[in-house]
Amino acid sequence: MLRNMTAMPGDRVLSGIQPSGDVHIGNYLGALRNWVVDQDAHDAFYVIVDLHALTLDIDPAELRRRTFGLAATLFAVGLDPARCTLFVQSHVHEHTGLTWLLECTTTMGELRRMTQFKDKAAGRDSVRVGLFTYPVLQAADILLYDATRVPVGEDQRQHLELARDVAIRFNNRYGTTFTVPEAAVPKVGARVMDLAHPENKMSKSATSPNGTVNVFDTPDEIRRKVRRAVTDTGSAVAYDPVTKPGVSNLLDLLAAATGGSPQELAGSFDRYGPLKDAVAEALIELLRPVWKRREELDDDPAAVHGALARGAERAGDVAAATLARAREAMGLLPGKR
Ligand code: TRP
Repeated sequence: MLRNMTAMPGDRVLSGIQPSGDVHIGNYLGALRNWVVDQDAHDAFYVIVDLHALTLDIDPAELRRRTFGLAATLFAVGLDPARCTLFVQSHVHEHTGLTWLLECTTTMGELRRMTQFKDKAAGRDSVRVGLFTYPVLQAADILLYDATRVPVGEDQRQHLELARDVAIRFNNRYGTTFTVPEAAVPKVGARVMDLAHPENKMSKSATSPNGTVNVFDTPDEIRRKVRRAVTDTGSAVAYDPVTKPGVSNLLDLLAAATGGSPQELAGSFDRYGPLKDAVAEALIELLRPVWKRREELDDDPAAVHGALARGAERAGDVAAATLARAREAMGLLPGKR
């Protein structure tokens, strides 16, 4: 097989993304661009976690549209079915199959401690069981593929710790079955901040849409949002994320889009206006090829569905072997499926 010739055995990257909301440049520059790089250096598995999206009330037509849209987006940014395995979580039944086995080795106390659960459940009198067990499904996503490295944002660190704890405990109790994964969290500073509130990370759930540049915003929308970006007091263009978070975020964006260093780029501008123009144009140039590929894929949905089907088949082969191991380790009788 041609793909991943440089990957070492036991070197498998896996990450997941929810089909919720629009993909923004924070997702792209902070995560997806690294996914694209990782597909050549590692055996990379990427999963669109539609089952996780069901933990919040989501309209069925909307979920279908977003799942397809996210797949097309991931292919458009450069994930290549010949170089990585991209699939939809619900297409590989082993995810739910392993989740049950892992739920029987995870405690209520562990799940109650999850800060994301506490945040999402806060103030609601009715909380879905799926929201509570969400991290167990995530552990299944990871453990099914013997992933060694899991690139995630800081907000997922606790879920990764849980996946590790579950794997270690299972291995101790039932014999070595799972590979214990490592989280790979990008360093602070590699993060894209909100344009309107540069003290916060750019996010789909931002209070104001002006702070978030989506990958499929039009050039005019991008120019407008970047021009309105909050800058800092004073007018000097200097890179200092602590005292000048707004300007520094713009410099980080320009650096990420053009490949320069933010400190050096700061020296090329003496006013905020030209810096903003440069950022907007750099983002537009960066995204233009993505828009073009996305258009082609939207014209050929069968190609997207076909690539997802092949991804699910490849993922399913790996997942089935792991689930069989876990079932046997726990004492379930082998049987026909
Ligand atoms: N919970 C992750 C998030 O919201 C998405 C996710 C699901 C994931 N399964 C995963 C990430 C497995 C990494 C590995 O971002």
